[in-house]
Amino acid sequence: MKAIDRLIVAIDDAGLAGVMRTANKLRESVATVKIGSTAFNANGPLAVQALAQLGLRVFLDLKLFDIPEQVSGAVRAMTRPGVFMMTVHTLGGPEMMTAAKRASQDEADRLGLPAPLIVGVTVLTSLDDSWLARVGLPGTAETVPLLAVAARDAGLDGVVCSALECAGVKAVCGDEFLTVVPGIRPSGTSRDDQKRIATPSFARSQGADYLVVGRPITGAADPQRAAATILRDMDQRRENT
Ligand code: C5P
Repeated sequence: MKAIDRLIVAIDDAGLAGVMRTANKLRESVATVKIGSTAFNANGPLAVQALAQLGLRVFLDLKLFDIPEQVSGAVRAMTRPGVFMMTVHTLGGPEMMTAAKRASQDEADRLGLPAPLIVGVTVLTSLDDSWLARVGLPGTAETVPLLAVAARDAGLDGVVCSALECAGVKAVCGDEFLTVVPGIRPSGTSRDDQKRIATPSFARSQGADYLVVGRPITGAADPQRAAATILRDMDQRRENT
């Protein structure tokens, strides 16, 4: 896969005008954008449609966390042209994850669309071991691979994890099981609210399949240039600094 197919730009504006302004700036340099609760709750399916019409693949990151019946219904509704990937929480359990995968496959077949990839959120990259310890769980190095195995056994295509856990996930789930990695911060940029961060090159060296980058690109004075720098960095092999 080429670097451009691995980069996912998170556009987290609320207003559709702002989302589309960023998407228009980036449409020549990236292939995939992600919208989440902010843009989707403000604009609904219109946001997906508008991005798909620009020729962009859409990662619809709504991080579903509910009983299997509700998640199936939501996934069916989200399986629409242009939607390339979506998320459910692995802590929703095996039945919920299996139901999500089946619902997206069935709906995609019904509509004659390629089935979207369904990936499971493990531990948010804005959290660290101190939170897991507080609720009696082992650290991310142990918890994330356990959740990944559950996601793989339930039939999901991959998980969302930090770069720091990618190698551990691949070791137990196999190379084909996808890792989608947010918390990407090029050297010298702000970590914002993210805790488990990595540079683009380090994430790739750990086996990250897809890199999710938001503010380092969308908040840059020249987003296109920031994306180009990250695409270049993805192909380098460097330390995590
Ligand atoms: O701006 P930044 O690069 O931190 O954006 C990261 C994006 O990845 C956000 O849209 C956030 O919702 C998402 N994300 C994350 N941690 C996860 C899953 C998704 O930061 N575990």
